[in-house]
Amino acid sequence: MQSSSQIQPSGFAADVLKGLSAEPKFLSSKYFYDDEGSRLFQEIMKLPEYYLTRAEFEIFAEQTPKILEAFNAENSPFDLIELGAGDGTKTAVLIDYFLQRATNFTYSPIDISQEAVDALSEKFNAEFPHLLMKPKTGDYFRILETLKTESQRRKILLFLGSNIGNFNQEQAEEFFRNLRTVMNENDLLLVGFDLQKDPRVILLAYDDSQGVTAAFNLNLLARINRELGANFNLENFSHYATYRPTECAARSFLISRKTQTVRVEALNQSFDFKAWEPIFMEISQKYSLEMINEFAEASGFQVVQNFFDSRQYYADSLWKPVTTR
Ligand code: AVI
Repeated sequence: MQSSSQIQPSGFAADVLKGLSAEPKFLSSKYFYDDEGSRLFQEIMKLPEYYLTRAEFEIFAEQTPKILEAFNAENSPFDLIELGAGDGTKTAVLIDYFLQRATNFTYSPIDISQEAVDALSEKFNAEFPHLLMKPKTGDYFRILETLKTESQRRKILLFLGSNIGNFNQEQAEEFFRNLRTVMNENDLLLVGFDLQKDPRVILLAYDDSQGVTAAFNLNLLARINRELGANFNLENFSHYATYRPTECAARSFLISRKTQTVRVEALNQSFDFKAWEPIFMEISQKYSLEMINEFAEASGFQVVQNFFDSRQYYADSLWKPVTTR
């Protein structure tokens, strides 16, 4: 039983406590993105080994007319809503083309980070003075719920970057099912999926030669030091990436290089690490077209069309809700 003087940790602290007390230990990759983590992710996207961003950019740059045609099949105005918009580089290509074609649409980037939304709004206001923008900050589902009734226009949701790959199967299905509940019959969802390919190509994307991905993972330990008063010595941990073709999943770990004890002040607790003990950090799931179809079906959608890059490394899959009567 908890005594009245003890304060139960919540949020980040609670998740760190849960993960470091577990066997095997784990930390959630959703905490990678503090300011330093977001900066490192920008670096990752520029790495020669990290093909994902360029592949999706190629799809948007080369297939803009086809994408607009698919969005506009209904020939009615729409609200383009981007979940986790980041720096908007890929979406800018679509927006530019849509504006040139005098398409009747609005653009709403949604992100939990106010800073990210502000930066994107400023950039797009300067770049596209005629764009009707309605940026929102906060939880995706709460915001989508309000949009469901706020606007009479069709919603086209974008969930890009293969961000879905960082959820496990169960979380991903739940995420899509939740999206389905806030969508109307004529709405659409465009999801970015990283496809299965030569395992060596995938592994290198998560084990780059400059060590940026290693720094990205280690930054979570540094974040625990900064925010929760821990004393992780980053030199005592090393990044290790795997790709298992049987599960089509890349995983990253931080390995304790020696027997050590780490104190986390905010939790008033210490954690023991054995030599070579792993902390599981992140899953990056890769997909086949079959898996994408099954996913759509399992969560109340139907695949309308897939857009691929020239190497078939990546797919942006356009889904529509299936109506059950
Ligand atoms: C954001 N997400 C899709 C990236 C990925 O590829 O899983 C995060 C990342 N982790 C290491 N490199 C990039």
